[in-house]
Amino acid sequence: MNLKIALLPGDGIGPEVINEAVKVCNAISKRFNHNIKWNEELVGAAAIEKTGDPYPERTHETCLASDAVLFGAVGDPKFDNDPSLSVRPEEGLLRMRKKLGLYANLRPTFTFKPLLDMSPIKRNIIQGTDLIFVRELTGGIYFGKRGKNLDNSYAYDTCEYNKDEIERIAKIGFELAGNRSKKMCCIDKANVLETSRLWRKTVQSMEKSYPDIDVSYEFVDAVAMRLIHSPTRYDVLITSNLFGDILTDEASVISGSMGLMPSASVGSKTSIYEPIHGSFPEATGKNIANPLATILSASMMFERSFNLTEEAQLIKKIVFESIEEKIVTADLSVKGKSFTTSQIGNWIKERIEKG
Ligand code: IPM
Ligand code: MN
Repeated sequence: MNLKIALLPGDGIGPEVINEAVKVCNAISKRFNHNIKWNEELVGAAAIEKTGDPYPERTHETCLASDAVLFGAVGDPKFDNDPSLSVRPEEGLLRMRKKLGLYANLRPTFTFKPLLDMSPIKRNIIQGTDLIFVRELTGGIYFGKRGKNLDNSYAYDTCEYNKDEIERIAKIGFELAGNRSKKMCCIDKANVLETSRLWRKTVQSMEKSYPDIDVSYEFVDAVAMRLIHSPTRYDVLITSNLFGDILTDEASVISGSMGLMPSASVGSKTSIYEPIHGSFPEATGKNIANPLATILSASMMFERSFNLTEEAQLIKKIVFESIEEKIVTADLSVKGKSFTTSQIGNWIKERIEKG
């Protein structure tokens, strides 16, 4: 198969983890006789530095013309500490999501047996966790009306949703649940927020079309607690943009490291695959970042965008093996030896090549 993939390494550790994912994809393509054409473009702070724009038109055109996008991370502390700067790297990511119509973000949380004691949460609580968030990605408070007054003593952001935006998220959730354990949780704050009441009403009205799915409606504050207290009760969770942003970071603690969990952003145009972690500036250039979240994102890409299940499964299997054999970066090493970012990538690549 011919695969055209846009590569957006971005900032911080982005280029390092992307590099390893590329090695892995190339090994897969060699083994299964595919032909990948990579097109690398700028995004985030790297793009601001070169073009003044965190999501240049050229990057957008390349994404549109590709079958999938593999994305590293954006963000640079230079921009965080100076609120007077008019453009920020994160804006590039938000604009990219909006312009590509990527309205749903799929973020799984699962555990790796050898890492059960890496999580700060007790082993017997997290064992068996296998859940997936469907986070709304192009609406809500992230994109609502906002403003501030001239002397900076007042500011506001607005959360807005319409029925269509909620329905398309719920549809993804119902369909995912149908292929999993047939359980879906709709997370909201319907005891306070009007938008949450619309979420609840909309999802309730869709229930009759999915009679085999058992839906629970839970408040976001309670879910924040239950995710830590009893994560195995959940399977598919659907929620709005901001709630999803917060809860998916929280849930990543269950797996043992932020460097492990992948994600897919899907919608009307080209899908993007990216690790859930950020640009981790402290680790930049040190060859210590964990590339597994990005490599697992590449696995999601083979599965979802190319329908190449065998390829996707093989990547996942070898990632699990690398952990079992303790070929891990420092974030996952208990007392023993740890490996560098590129050593992990090389190990996985070689395993794929050997078969
Ligand atoms: C994420 C990130 C982004 C978000 C930031 C970088 C804009 O935290 O993908 O979760 O808030 O959506
Ligand atoms: Mn986030």
